[in-house]
Amino acid sequence: MTIAGSVRPLAKHDAEAVLAAFRSDPQMRRQGTVRDVSEAHRYVAALLDPDAHRLSWAITDETDVLVGLVAVNVDTANRNGWFWYWMNAAHRGRGWSSRAAIAVANQALGPDGLERLELGHRANNPASARVAEAAGFVQEGIERAKFLIDGERIDVLTYGRLRTDPWPTGEAAIIRP
Ligand SMILES: CC(C)(COP(=O)(O)OP(=O)(O)OC[C@H]1O[C@@H](n2cnc3c(N)ncnc32)[C@H](O)[C@@H]1OP(=O)(O)O)[C@@H](O)C(=O)NCCC(=O)NCCS
Repeated sequence: MTIAGSVRPLAKHDAEAVLAAFRSDPQMRRQGTVRDVSEAHRYVAALLDPDAHRLSWAITDETDVLVGLVAVNVDTANRNGWFWYWMNAAHRGRGWSSRAAIAVANQALGPDGLERLELGHRANNPASARVAEAAGFVQEGIERAKFLIDGERIDVLTYGRLRTDPWPTGEAAIIRP
């Protein structure tokens, strides 16, 4: 048994659980194209590709099955990272995404790590805003009418967190090797 809501590195064997997460909510299609097992394997392989410079963390349940993901696309030259996350709909609302985001962001901005993290979310996605704020991100801007979704233009709110910003006070998920 592992601690529910803890975090460990993404692994190849997580592909089926990734597929389950994408099937849990039609909105997940905005996170990529995963409609069957082979697409799930490709999605995981792309995240694990060392040339892609991504840090990918699985959020797991008590049986070590992936239920969510927190990832950082690293921009090595600028010591920046694009931060993103999702959670299987069946496991939302437990605080696991927020705690995992705190842990991964803190680690990414740790000694010898990155100096700035960035993210963006649709203005009509308040749950994502809560996760970002919990993880110490501050809103920096707004990209007006960025996406066309179901015939409506939707703003995107942009956030950043610097290594020198105040660290979040909320509980961080345990990171396992
Ligand atoms: C965004 C997402 C990861 C949040 O996952 P989650 O596991 O429910 O997050 P948490 O349980 O940590 O809770 C986040 C907060 O959002 C709040 N929240 C959830 N749904 C909400 C809603 N519809 N309106 C307002 N707040 C909401 C929760 O109450 C919680 O607030 P709190 O910390 O003040 O208690 C999840 O909804 C998701 O995967 N969405 C689809 C993918 C996505 O949008 N990813 C982000 C793209 S940048």
